[in-house]
Amino acid sequence: MEIIKVKDYQEMSNEACSLIVENIKEKPKSVLGLATGSTPEGLYQQLIRKYQQKEVSFQQALTFNLDEYVGITIDDPNSYYYFMNEKLFNHIDIQKSNTYIPNGMVDNLDKECHDYEQLIRHAKYIDIQLLGLGLNGHIGFNEPGTSFSSRTHIVDLDESTRKANARFFDSLNEVPTKAITMGIDTIMESKKIVLLVSGEKKADAVTRLVNGAVSEEFPASILQKHNNVIVIADEAALKKM
Ligand code: GLP
Repeated sequence: MEIIKVKDYQEMSNEACSLIVENIKEKPKSVLGLATGSTPEGLYQQLIRKYQQKEVSFQQALTFNLDEYVGITIDDPNSYYYFMNEKLFNHIDIQKSNTYIPNGMVDNLDKECHDYEQLIRHAKYIDIQLLGLGLNGHIGFNEPGTSFSSRTHIVDLDESTRKANARFFDSLNEVPTKAITMGIDTIMESKKIVLLVSGEKKADAVTRLVNGAVSEEFPASILQKHNNVIVIADEAALKKM
C-alpha cells in the first residue's frame, strides 16, 4: 500500500486528478470506478477543469459507480445517479451510455446485482477504482461484518452510516435503510485502487485501515491485501499515524 501524504483537501483532489488523467491518456478506453460522498467532489471539479482546458477527454471512457441507495428515484437530488450527473457527467464529454450506476428502484434487486457484475466483467474489469472511507471502515456501502468474498449485493445500512449521511437529507427518517453496493471482492478485482481521505474526523479510520488487523469488522482493512493501492491522505487525516 502506497501512502501519499498531502497538505490538504485541495492537494488530495489535485493528486487524484493527475492519477486519473494519466490513466486516461495512457488508455483512452479506461474503465473508471467512481465514488460519491463529499470526499471526491473536489477531484470531480478538477477533472472538469482539465476537460475544459482540453487536457483530457472522456469520450471513450467507461465508468462504474460503487453504490446507490435503494428506493430513491434518479431525479431525487440525494440519489447517487443525480449526484454523478450534477458533479461530473454533465460537464464532461463522457457518453452517458457508458456511465453505469446500480439502479436501486428496480423490482428485482437481485437481478440488478447480478447484471451489474456481468457489466463489469464484460468491460474487462475496473482499471482504477476510487474509494472514500466511511467512519466505520465501510467502502462503497460494505458495512462492518460484510464478507470479504461478497459481490454486488443489497445491504442494510448501519445506523452510524445513516446518521453520517443525514446531513444531505431533511431528516434522519428520510435516509434510506438499504443500498446496493459493489461487493468487497468486486472492488478487490480492480486493477488499481485509489482511496481518498481528508480531515481529522477520519484519522482513526485511516490508521486502522493502514495498521489495523485485516478483519471483516473493518471492511477497508482488506485493502492491505491488494497489490496496487494508493491512499491519498491529507495531514489532518494522518494525524494519528
Ligand atoms: C458514503 C458512501 C461511500 C463514501 C463514504 C464516505 O456512505 N457510500 O462511498 O466513501 O460514505 O463519505 P464522505 O466522503 O462524505 O465522508
